Amino acid sequence: MNTLKFIHLTDLHLTADGERPAGYDTYANTQRALSHSLGLFPDADFLVITGDLANWGEQGAYRRLESLLETVPIPVFLMIGNHDNRDNFFSVFGKRHPFALPYVQYSQTLGGYDLVFLDTQGIGSHAGSLSPERLEWMEETLAAAEHEVLLFMHHHPVELHAPALDAKGLTNWPQFHAALARHRHKIRHIFHGHCHILLQGNVEGISFTGLRSMTDQAYTDLKLSKAARLHAEPHYGVALVTPNSLIVHLQEFNYSGPLLVRERQKFDDFIGLCAERGVTVPREEPAVYAE
Ligand SMILES: [Fe+2]
Ligand SMILES: [Fe+2]
Repeated sequence: MNTLKFIHLTDLHLTADGERPAGYDTYANTQRALSHSLGLFPDADFLVITGDLANWGEQGAYRRLESLLETVPIPVFLMIGNHDNRDNFFSVFGKRHPFALPYVQYSQTLGGYDLVFLDTQGIGSHAGSLSPERLEWMEETLAAAEHEVLLFMHHHPVELHAPALDAKGLTNWPQFHAALARHRHKIRHIFHGHCHILLQGNVEGISFTGLRSMTDQAYTDLKLSKAARLHAEPHYGVALVTPNSLIVHLQEFNYSGPLLVRERQKFDDFIGLCAERGVTVPREEPAVYAE
C-alpha cells in the first residue's frame, strides 16, 4: 500500500540576531527538530512548515532559516503566518515555490496527493483572513485538483470555543467553511499551526491537526480571554497517509532521557500476575444470558 510520509513543523518564531522570543532559543529548537526528524525519518517525502517562520518578520530571520534548510535533502514547503512579513519572506524565498502572487499561496502534486498551501495572514491584527481573491484561488485550486487534497494553513480552521485563541482566528470563518463544504469530498485533512497547542477535531466533516510551536506553548481552560502560556516541550508531527487512513505521530525531539524498552509481556504471565491479585482473566467468550 502506498504511504505518503511527511514531517510537519510549525511556528518557528526565528529572529535575525538570536533574540529569544519568550526566553526560548527558537533557532536551537528548530535545528534540533530538523536533525531529529531527518535522522529518524530519512525516507520522508517532504517537510512542511506552517507559518510564523519569523517572530518579527525580519529579513535576517528568513536568511537564517534559508541556511538551516540548505542541507535538508527532501522538498521543504514554506508558509507564512501572522508574525511573518510577506515582503521580507519574498526577498529571501520569492523563487522557491510557484506562488499565486501577491500571496504566499501555491499548490504542488506529490506522492499521489495535491498539497494546497494557503496564506491566511490578516491585516492589522494577529487574527487571520482569507480575502475574496484568496478564497477564489482556493476554490479554483480545489476544483482543479486531480488527486485527494491535503490542505495546509497557518490559522486554525474553526472556532475552538477558547476565547483567547479564537480572538486571533480567521475573521471570515463562514466564507471559508462554505468554500470547504463545497469541496469537502476532495480534502483528506487540514494541517495548521498558530495556536501553539496540540489540536485535533473536524470542520465540515474534514479532520484537522494543529501542533505546538518552537517557542512557548498555549494553555486554555476554555474560559480565559487573555492568552495564557506554559512551558511544555515542543514537538513536530510525522504524518502517514494511506488510501484509507491518516495518522499523525508526535515527536518530542528535546527528550534526551533513556528509552525504557521492555520485553513484551506474555499473556499467560499477565494472567498469572492477575491471579496473584485475586483477579481471574476469562479464557472463553462470556456466556450468553437468556432473557
Ligand atoms: Fe506562532
Ligand atoms: Fe500565528
